Amino acid sequence: MDHRLWGGRFAAPNAEEMRRYNDSFRFDRRLADVDITGSVAWAGALEQAGLISAEECEALTQGLELVRREFADGRFEPKPGDEDIHTAIERRLHELVGEPALRLHTGRSRNDQVATSLRLFAIGAARQVGERIQGLQLALVEQAERHADTLMPGYTHLQRAQPITFGHWCLAYVEMLERDRQRLEDATARARTLPLGAGALAGNSLGVERERLTEALDEFDAVAANSLDAVADRDFVAELLFAFALTGVHLSRLAEDLVLYSSAEFGFVELADEYSTGSSLMPQKKNPDSMELLRGKSGRLLGNLVTIMTVLKGLPLTYNKDMQEDKEPFFDSLDTLDLGLQVAAAAVATLVARPERMAAALDDSMLATDLADELVRRGVPFREAHGKVGRLVRRAMELHLPLRQLPIAEYQAVQPDLGHEVYALFDPARSVARKDSLGGTAPQRVREQVARWRDLLA
Ligand code: ARG
Repeated sequence: MDHRLWGGRFAAPNAEEMRRYNDSFRFDRRLADVDITGSVAWAGALEQAGLISAEECEALTQGLELVRREFADGRFEPKPGDEDIHTAIERRLHELVGEPALRLHTGRSRNDQVATSLRLFAIGAARQVGERIQGLQLALVEQAERHADTLMPGYTHLQRAQPITFGHWCLAYVEMLERDRQRLEDATARARTLPLGAGALAGNSLGVERERLTEALDEFDAVAANSLDAVADRDFVAELLFAFALTGVHLSRLAEDLVLYSSAEFGFVELADEYSTGSSLMPQKKNPDSMELLRGKSGRLLGNLVTIMTVLKGLPLTYNKDMQEDKEPFFDSLDTLDLGLQVAAAAVATLVARPERMAAALDDSMLATDLADELVRRGVPFREAHGKVGRLVRRAMELHLPLRQLPIAEYQAVQPDLGHEVYALFDPARSVARKDSLGGTAPQRVREQVARWRDLLA
C-alpha cells in the first residue's frame, strides 16, 4: 500500500532529492507524543459525530497508544515513505490495527493537525523553560541571601559608580528572569486556541464538534474562530521564540558580568572547575567557557527568531509548505535555552564570591554622591553641591590623595561648615545601608527581597 497521504493523483513518485528536501520526519518526530494525543482526541470526536463506531474508536485509541509507547521506548522503526510524523504514525497505526486506521484522517488535514500538535508541544516547552528559569532564579536568590551584606562596586558605563551589594546584583537578574517567565505564560495563553477541526483551510463538513475537542485536549481553552487563520497562524512560535531570545539576551548579560568578574583584573568571583575549561597550550589558564557559551548562544536564539519572522513574512493565506520551517528553529531554541538555563543555574549556585576583592575595588570617589547628599542635608541646592564635590574630587586628584585624606581645609574651602565628621562618610557599608528606599541596595532591603522571592518561587 502507498502510504503517501496524497499519492492518488500522481503518476510518478517524487524524485529522490525532492523527497529528502520535503521530508520532515527526521526533525518532526519530536512531535510524536503530542500528535498522538491530538489523534486520540480526534478519534473520539469522530465517534461522537457518528463517523466511526465505538469499536473502531477503541481500536484506534489502543493502536495509537501502542505507537506512542514505541516512540517513547525508542522502538519505533521509521520506513522510507515516512514523509513526516503524521504519515509515519498513520502508517504504523495501519500496520497495527488495519482498516480503522484508514478512517482516522476523516475530516482532518495535516494542516490543522500539525498546527494542533505544534501548539501542544509549544505549551509544554514553555512550561519546561519556565521551570528552568525558576531554577536559575533560585540559585541567584541563594547567592543573594549569602551576600546581602557583601559590598562591591556598582557600575555604569562599566566605570565604578556607587557601592552596592553583591546580593542586590544577584536580585537584578532575578527580576529580569521573572519578566521572562511572565512573557512565557502570556504567550502560552494565546497558544491555547485549538486549530483542530479547521480541516485543510475551510472547516469540516462532517459534523465534527470542535468545542468538545477542547475537553479532550485540556491544554486548550478555546477553538480557533476562523479556519483560515487556524491553519495559517504561527504567531505562537514567533512569540515564544521572542521570549526565548530575550531570555537569552538576559543570560548573555549575566554571562558578560561574570566573564568580567571572574577575570584576574576584577577577581570578584571564581567559577567552579565544573563550569570552566582550560587551555590546550597555556597550562595556567582557567576560562569561563560556560559564561562565554551563554553569551554566544544568545546569538542562535536571536537567529531563530529572525528565521521564523522571515518565513512568515509575506506568506499568503493559508497553509504553505514554508511553514514546515517553523519546527527546527523552535526545537533548536528550546534545546539551546533549556540546557543553557541548567548550566547557568549550576554555575551561579557553585560560584564563589570574593568579598575581599570586591571591597578592594571600592574607592572614596564612589562616595562622592554621598558627600553631595550630605551637603544637600545641610541645605545646599543639589546642583551646587554637585559642583562643590566635583571641585573636591579634582583637588584630590591633583594632590594624588583619596578623598578621605584631603585636609579639612580643602573641604572647608568649598563648604565652610564642614568639620571632621565629614570623614565618617567614607564608609561604603554606611553608604549602602542608607540606600534604603524601596528597591535600593541596603542590606535590609535586599533581605526583604530575598524573603519575597523565596515566597514567590516556593
Ligand atoms: N510536515 C508538514 C509541516 O510540518 C505537515 C503539514 C503538511 N501539509 C501539507 N499540506 N502538505 O508543515
